[in-house]
Amino acid sequence: MRDKLRVGFVGTGGIARGQHIPAWMQLPDAEIVAISEIDPKAGALGAEMAKVDKAHIYDDYEKMFEDEDLDVVDVCTANCMHMPPTVAALEAGCHVFVEKPVATSADEVRKMIAARDKSQKLLCVTQNMRYSDEAIAAKRFVDEGGIGDPYWAKAEYLRARGVPAWGAFSDVEKSAGGPCYDIGVHVLDLTLHLMGFPEPVSVSANTWLEIANKPSVMAHDPKKYTVPEELAVGFIRFENDICVSLGASWALNATGNQNNVSVFGTEGGVQMWPFTLVKEEHGMMLNCTPQVIGDKGLGGHAEEISQFVDAIIRGGMVPVPPEQALITQRILDGIYKSAEEGTEVKV
Ligand SMILES: NC(=O)c1ccc[n+]([C@@H]2O[C@H](COP(=O)([O-])OP(=O)(O)OC[C@H]3O[C@@H](n4cnc5c(N)ncnc54)[C@H](O)[C@@H]3O)[C@@H](O)[C@H]2O)c1
Repeated sequence: MRDKLRVGFVGTGGIARGQHIPAWMQLPDAEIVAISEIDPKAGALGAEMAKVDKAHIYDDYEKMFEDEDLDVVDVCTANCMHMPPTVAALEAGCHVFVEKPVATSADEVRKMIAARDKSQKLLCVTQNMRYSDEAIAAKRFVDEGGIGDPYWAKAEYLRARGVPAWGAFSDVEKSAGGPCYDIGVHVLDLTLHLMGFPEPVSVSANTWLEIANKPSVMAHDPKKYTVPEELAVGFIRFENDICVSLGASWALNATGNQNNVSVFGTEGGVQMWPFTLVKEEHGMMLNCTPQVIGDKGLGGHAEEISQFVDAIIRGGMVPVPPEQALITQRILDGIYKSAEEGTEVKV
């Protein structure tokens, strides 16, 4: 093994420069050595930040894999461009860290898992919301029996006003979906992570596009808004009578943004924001506010990337295996299918 893992990026837009590059740069065991970007400006900005020489900027990721002898590839392209470079990087013998949503369909995720299995390399999906200090504490509370058996959860990421004017989110050709793919996936993943990833059975969902195209709501050129929804709401059934209610919006006439994950169990409950643990003790309902004192000082992305590097160097499980992302993706597929068909669907 080399002293430092050689890391290459595919895509150095908003999230790569905002989170991934700074996270990799603070790790002593890794070095960003090459970048592939189809937008020369984004490539130059990414290279400057990552201290990558111009000679190692590519516009073709296959060529970068051929030339650079990489150990790890970090895929930060728009959703529709997650699966192709991930599979190509695994085929080139690299470990891969790929942004959320892992892909645009369960079939794509299965191809990614098959490529991972064939390559014997590691594949990890970004789900940074699991790695806040509060989420780590909540997971410990649930895993140690703090809420008993979880049976219902509410996962909401409802923006009153927040149609993205940045990235490729509102261009369906690139994003493949709306708020469900963008932000719903974060709270759905965190909910399933807390509940131990139960097996999904069916989804009943609806989507709406009512107000996002109004000039007063849209922050940008309406011609670019090609996503068929601004709000998605779903009810998901799992094995063993477990259910989850999910809502995700970019535009909603609500009293403000309403973001939360609440998991309810036989012995207690947990709510993420504000972080509260609920217990019944001495005949009383107690709402406890834990003191969460982070020991690493890393944000979600940095903590997850650090754990991914540990898994590469020391062995063991990646922090977010694609098998879990496949469960999430099956539910997202089910939400759009159910909304289209107007009926409950099996997932
Ligand atoms: N985890 C989070 O909190 C979070 C936040 C924002 C975005 N994201 C995810 O990150 C991904 C990227 O989002 P973004 O906001 O950075 O988008 P972005 O548009 O700012 O960046 C994507 C970059 O990929 C480049 N690109 C496209 N095709 C390419 C190719 N074939 N080869 C090389 N580069 C290519 C584009 O030129 C662009 O610079 C999305 O999947 C999004 O869902 C995650």
